[in-house]
Amino acid sequence: MSFSIKGLKYAVFAAALAVATVPTSAKNFKIAVGDGAGGTQEALGKAFISALEEKTGGEHTGTLFLNGQLGSEQDTISSAAMGALDFSILAINNITPFSPTVGTLTLPYVILSLDDAQTVTTGPIGQQLVENTIRDAGVRIVGWAYSGFRVLSNSAKPVETVADLDGLVIRVPKNAIMIETYKSWGIDPTPMAWSETFAGLQQKVVDGQDNPYITISAMKFYEVQKFITNLRYIFSIEPLVVSEAVFQDLSEAEQKAVLEAGAEATAFSASFLENTEARIRDELVERGMEIVDPANGEAEFIERATTTVWPKFYDSIGGVEKLNEVLTALGRETVQ
Ligand code: MLT
Repeated sequence: MSFSIKGLKYAVFAAALAVATVPTSAKNFKIAVGDGAGGTQEALGKAFISALEEKTGGEHTGTLFLNGQLGSEQDTISSAAMGALDFSILAINNITPFSPTVGTLTLPYVILSLDDAQTVTTGPIGQQLVENTIRDAGVRIVGWAYSGFRVLSNSAKPVETVADLDGLVIRVPKNAIMIETYKSWGIDPTPMAWSETFAGLQQKVVDGQDNPYITISAMKFYEVQKFITNLRYIFSIEPLVVSEAVFQDLSEAEQKAVLEAGAEATAFSASFLENTEARIRDELVERGMEIVDPANGEAEFIERATTTVWPKFYDSIGGVEKLNEVLTALGRETVQ
């Protein structure tokens, strides 16, 4: 066998080039999910993973850890901010304590439909909230799940009026806006982590809680709750966030794949809600839940929540003008 110095140099150069062009190592991202199987969070996560695999030629994938296995929803934000967790899918109300401006999406009776939710999240307002969340919480929103209205469930009695809430202990997320909303309805709610809520309902530490039909079903709350009231005070929006530290470690092409996969999963989430919500509501009835509408078109709930809760949070969301930007984008009247 013969070889020349020139040939050796070429072989070394070719090997170095090959190393430089080999794609970065395959990744299996850890994705925390607050809810159980069958919910909108899982649907968003699955759609994201399959789009990511497709966009990276199978190089990168992700694994969903359902049911709060990686910590309470609020804890996953801290873990992702430190770069100890890659992704999390959680309700927007559990990001608000870390980045108060996203509270505009949790103010009662602001988002009144799936259309409203899509308009706000996928337009300039959503982009602004993405940037604020990177700045405040160290996580980047790359996709949105749409989960429907948070209806009230409880184990004790039908609730149709504000007065019917009297005597009920209602669990709320650790979210100041939601706590104040129940206070405006005359009761003092109990803040509790999402990961502890099923046990809290089962052991009757609390009588009720609010979440969308699909979430109530995915969490099997029908086993421990009997009555539902069709409140529409918050349309539940549940972002997919990536640790900003993890995102910044990705190559430009990988970042592009993550963002595009997130956008595709967002579009899928809207159709998942439209195709699933009515069936799930019927299933909850078949499982024995009783569903009622609030009296008088919810007028008293709406009046109390909007007049007393909104003004309390103008400062934390960045000023009344931030709420007015949203109301204007939705074609609604602004407030003073
Ligand atoms: C909560 O109530 O804490 C969350 O909205 C639950 C969820 O993520 O589905």
